[in-house]
Amino acid sequence: LSVSCRSSYDDCKETADWLLAQTKQRPRVAIICGSGLGALADLIEDKIVFPYKEIPGFPTSTVAGHAGQLVFGKLQGRECVCMQGRFHFYEGYSLHTVTYPVRVFFLLGVETLIVTNAAGGLNGNYKVGDIMVIKDHINLPGFGGESPLVGRNDDRFGVRFPCMSDAYDRNLRALAIQTAHEQKCGNFLQEGVYCMVAGPNYETIAECNVLHKFGADAVGMSTVPEVMVARHCGLRVLGLSLITNKAVTDYDSHEKVNHEQVLMTTSLRAQELQRLVRHLVTKL
Ligand code: 6GU
Repeated sequence: LSVSCRSSYDDCKETADWLLAQTKQRPRVAIICGSGLGALADLIEDKIVFPYKEIPGFPTSTVAGHAGQLVFGKLQGRECVCMQGRFHFYEGYSLHTVTYPVRVFFLLGVETLIVTNAAGGLNGNYKVGDIMVIKDHINLPGFGGESPLVGRNDDRFGVRFPCMSDAYDRNLRALAIQTAHEQKCGNFLQEGVYCMVAGPNYETIAECNVLHKFGADAVGMSTVPEVMVARHCGLRVLGLSLITNKAVTDYDSHEKVNHEQVLMTTSLRAQELQRLVRHLVTKL
């Protein structure tokens, strides 16, 4: 199964122009909410909501529990557009489809992308409930040839061979860390490397050990494709991971990660993450 939408410049432009005709709002910040982190969009004021299925050319969500809508409005007084529910590679979407919304954001005039996700902690110093500012990523599917940037390059989005050594904006990271301290999140704040795996299974113990030796501090099944496409078209990016569980790296452990546990821990710190993002957007 491959769930795909068309994703040429003209397709993205058609979607963006349709949205621009529906609303006078011109957000310069886009937020992609991770699983269990979509409640952020509920805090948006003067909302205009577009279910994905009503947006021409937009991919549609398949998974229950993912709201699947684009929310325009003001977060803490700042105009934003928020994806409540993202598209995951493990659902069967191509990476072109997964990243289609990011190109639409670019054509809407968005300049800054904030992405959140739930992730497993690989770094032994990380605790469940920590918030990790993403410093860098490892695109593990990319090692195997899966990249959202394969195929004919359209220069209207960006260059053929984009740089990724500055993927996570230094100033935004500093701002996030400063804001976290102001918002009393400093004692559970980390900064580290996020590794994307395709999923949908969680990792074996051996795989966790490999990822940790590779230099990953956290592991998850999203974010990296969207960030790569955002960087390709010149958006500034901030990524935040909520550490929902510790990845098992020890054969004596009897811990078994599951989705319910991940969602449960997400809800424990979702409020803090929301507060952090809300205050952050006012400083952009
Ligand atoms: Cl342990 N692994 C992956 N791939 N994704 C996760 C996770 C682990 N915990 C939350 N999301």
